[in-house]
Amino acid sequence: MSCSLCDNTGWVRIERDGAFAVERCACWRDRLNATLVAEARIPPRYQKCDLDNIALYPNEQLQRAIAIARRFADQFPVVEKGLFLNGPPGIGKTHIAVAVLKQVVRTRGARGLFYDTRELLRIIRSTFNPVTKTAEMDILQPVMEADLLVLDDLGSEKPSEWVEETMNLIVNTRYNERRPTIFTSNYEDLPDQEGDPQSLKARVGFRIHSRLHEMCEFLEYDGADYRHLPPNGNENDLLNLWRMHPRRRPAQPKPRTPAKAQLTPREPVRPREYADVRWRGGKAGS
Ligand SMILES: Nc1ncnc2c1ncn2[C@@H]1O[C@H](COP(=O)(O)OP(=O)(O)OP(=O)(O)O)[C@@H](O)[C@H]1O
Ligand SMILES: [Mg+2]
Ligand SMILES: [Zn+2]
Repeated sequence: MSCSLCDNTGWVRIERDGAFAVERCACWRDRLNATLVAEARIPPRYQKCDLDNIALYPNEQLQRAIAIARRFADQFPVVEKGLFLNGPPGIGKTHIAVAVLKQVVRTRGARGLFYDTRELLRIIRSTFNPVTKTAEMDILQPVMEADLLVLDDLGSEKPSEWVEETMNLIVNTRYNERRPTIFTSNYEDLPDQEGDPQSLKARVGFRIHSRLHEMCEFLEYDGADYRHLPPNGNENDLLNLWRMHPRRRPAQPKPRTPAKAQLTPREPVRPREYADVRWRGGKAGS
């Protein structure tokens, strides 16, 4: 696209205090930010997601989640914590995470990155050398260093020692460097779920679980599964859908897990954080 302000040079002449100077044209910044959005790996299905195109219906928890997501995006990078969007399928968790990511990349020129957690682990695994126990830094470094990382569907990967250590490396590095992360997950995080293999804690391991609570504001909500909304459905349809299929009701006590349903035994925690995951080059491991 041609720019009449700068003749496509990317620079404009300005007058300041009686003297002439040059500065970047707005079109240059727009192009740069469009490149950054393109590099954020947002899946095509979610590229149109914005905080303004989320249908709101009388759902207080959803409205609160969106208000907090909006505040996060407006205040970025001056934010204390990341976000943890938690709830059943189809309620817009990934939509909200992508919308925030896009906004901070566009308006702040932040380096943003989106990864589905399983996909990220699959890529890391494909570059992992079991003999030297190193993972390819080309993948890990941008994930650990992005100004804002979205890790979608946390806990979806079957837990294993390798998964836990790899995720621990990523989460802990970002935690130490105070880099915000937005997580989404279907796995419930209720205090009375000790021993339930379907709990968030069991899926991600207790070390990451405790970090998450320090790193993130938890936005837990229920709602209508948008994927079941008929074409041309409106906000009333969403409300009816939610009423017909109430899925997660925090007020209903869950049956307690019998004592014998224990977690799969885990390896004892070793004193060094990343005993098995090292990497080639890069400063993070030195
Ligand atoms: N309130 C909403 N308004 C508009 N679109 C919505 C809303 N909620 C969800 N969607 C759309 O519905 C689809 C499913 O939402 P999304 O993928 O964000 O759900 P999710 O909570 O991440 O589900 P899952 O747990 O299965 O990953 C997306 O295309 C999203 O843009
Ligand atoms: Mg999702
Ligand atoms: Zn221009």
